[in-house]
Amino acid sequence: MSEAAQTLAPDSIDAPASEFPIPAGVFAEKVVSVQHYTDRLFRFRITRPQSFRFRSGEFVMIGLPNAAKPVYRAYSVASPSWDEELEFYSIKVQDGPLTQHLQKIKPGDTVLMRPKPTGTLVHDALTPGKRVWMIATGTGIAPFASLIRDPETYEKFDEIVLTNTCRDVAELAYGNELVAALRDDPLIGELVETRLKYVAATTRETSPLMGRITTRIEDGSLFAGLGVEPFNPDVDRVMICGSMDMLRDVKALVEKAGLVEGSVSNPGQFVVERAFVG
Ligand code: A2P
Repeated sequence: MSEAAQTLAPDSIDAPASEFPIPAGVFAEKVVSVQHYTDRLFRFRITRPQSFRFRSGEFVMIGLPNAAKPVYRAYSVASPSWDEELEFYSIKVQDGPLTQHLQKIKPGDTVLMRPKPTGTLVHDALTPGKRVWMIATGTGIAPFASLIRDPETYEKFDEIVLTNTCRDVAELAYGNELVAALRDDPLIGELVETRLKYVAATTRETSPLMGRITTRIEDGSLFAGLGVEPFNPDVDRVMICGSMDMLRDVKALVEKAGLVEGSVSNPGQFVVERAFVG
């Protein structure tokens, strides 16, 4: 990792005249790898500033040095806190102010990252429980990619259920590969095998499990498929990440089951976070 990649950009006046300056107080990191899954989804990994610390499930603001005033968007860190790189999972929006450019990044390019991570999909926002549900649609799986690799998740909960619902089968690849790799992990593979349940479903393309997560909660098939009881405030904790509509609808179902929303300052039985959309 180069020194430049680890240091907060000192000031815009040092930047070469031919490029837009790196804004002061922002990390300027290098792209390490990019993987495109579909024409709508890709992941990228960047160098990690040595001083950067985050809690699993938090997000940071990401931008590109392609304008005098770069556009930033919230991105959940998908990599675990012990990883020496940072991973992000992104949608591609053709006219999205950031992602129309971000989807073209290549290894060696510079990505800007504001230094302060934040967010509510963190352990501290949930009161203790037996089972934690991580309910993701689309790129909403990103914070859970970090959390399911965090040993604290397995210390705090006996059971972890990760639900990954996407439009079609190709969009499930990121989550499927993540869980497969974790099950093969020599250190925590066995723990994951017994304690992590992974439920992948599609809504628009035929696959072994189909239907919106809201439908499967309402008709009970989500719980029956796992052999567990429906949401119970004494037992279950829920983390939700997806589009605005999905958050609203899943939140209503979780509240109907009697769970109370939490935050870092006031922990509760469920938490929500909007997945990046622009
Ligand atoms: P659907 O295919 O029926 O729209 P997106 O990529 O648009 O964020 O969608 C990701 C997944 O979330 C899709 O399977 C989509 O289903 C589903 N979804 C969209 N809106 C809702 C909602 N309000 N409640 C539950 N699932 C939703």
